[in-house]
Amino acid sequence: MIIHVTDQAGEKHELEGLEGWRVMEVIRDWGLNIKAECGGALSCATCHVYVDPDWLDAVGAPSDEEEDMLDSVGDVRSNSRLSCQILCSDALDGLKLTLAPSAAKD
Ligand code: FES
Repeated sequence: MIIHVTDQAGEKHELEGLEGWRVMEVIRDWGLNIKAECGGALSCATCHVYVDPDWLDAVGAPSDEEEDMLDSVGDVRSNSRLSCQILCSDALDGLKLTLAPSAAKD
């Protein structure tokens, strides 16, 4: 599956995701600017992304725990998600998202 990622500088990247991997892991392993401090344990919110509106239904709604973590960042929007909570699958082939400023490493 392919994931289209726009980074904080506006640059576009096309990443190859593996089924069952967390989207955060794909973005991180490709070396993009994502902190993902807790490694996917849902306790940091530094894997914050904005999901393209066309993909919101396919990605699905965040859990209550994820929403609580998103409430802790200042740049949250209605299409905010934590990328460690999105699993790669064929249904998400072509997924488009943008890295949030609060996900940057520094
Ligand atoms: S990596 Fe920490 S919540 Fe996603």
